[in-house]
Amino acid sequence: MSLWKKHQVFEKNSIILLIGVLVVIAIGGLVEIAPLFYLKSTIEKVEGMRPYTPLELAGRNIYVREGCYNCHSQMIRTLRDEVERYGHYSLASESMYDRPFQWGSKRTGPDLARVGGKYSDAWQREHLDDPRAVVPTSIMPAYPWLAQRTLELDYLGQDLAIQAKLGVPYDDAMVADAKADAWRQADPNADPGDLEARYPKVQIRDFDGDPTRITEADALIAYLQMLGTLVDFKLYDDKANLR
Ligand code: HEC
Repeated sequence: MSLWKKHQVFEKNSIILLIGVLVVIAIGGLVEIAPLFYLKSTIEKVEGMRPYTPLELAGRNIYVREGCYNCHSQMIRTLRDEVERYGHYSLASESMYDRPFQWGSKRTGPDLARVGGKYSDAWQREHLDDPRAVVPTSIMPAYPWLAQRTLELDYLGQDLAIQAKLGVPYDDAMVADAKADAWRQADPNADPGDLEARYPKVQIRDFDGDPTRITEADALIAYLQMLGTLVDFKLYDDKANLR
């Protein structure tokens, strides 16, 4: 039987054809995708990136829980208007510790990849409590419960441990001290210990205006205020990149 006759099997039976197509696509997919998991050069490292502090990670979890990603992206594209509005376009390595990533796919509100430091903590607090109080035309929902609810700290260590299993470089001491480190970051009167050595550029202060306890607003604002602040783009030649 010639090759052409054998091929009739596929042409006469749509199910066999479909299976054949899937096999061929699977081989192509493996060849293209599998090497990316092993090549070091897939993500070019950039100076300044570090894993989230326990408080920031807790804030990030609240960001995910409340569905902020439904309206906000965290990925600045390499287009001129985006770069002029939001700052340097996002680099792959800036989300290397994001599990899961928060790139988002819809912008009802602005991109938040570099929102850290754009507003004061007080602004962020009011905005979360009642967006219309600071931006009268805003259509963002209010999240008044965040400032009322005490942050659940007991599971932070487990959370760090799981992230470590997924490849984020948290060591055993960081996991063991997760709860204490959250307190050290949110309470400016506490002894910061080696918090700054562990998490360079960590912002230590009371984020929600209530120093007696750590609320969910503390965690979320700590997270928002660090977004995009780790990499110093002055080290890189922006202008040359954008031209
Ligand atoms: C229904 C869509 C929607 C959701 C959900 C939403 N936002 Fe917004 N957000 C907006 C819109 C629209 C704006 C622009 C108007 C304003 O500033 O309130 C905005 C603005 C912001 C800003 C100011 C950004 C800037 O650069 O001016 C921050 C910070 C922010 N949102 C954080 C959050 C967080 C955190 C959550 C989740 C707790 C969230 N948003 C959920 C729609 C949304």
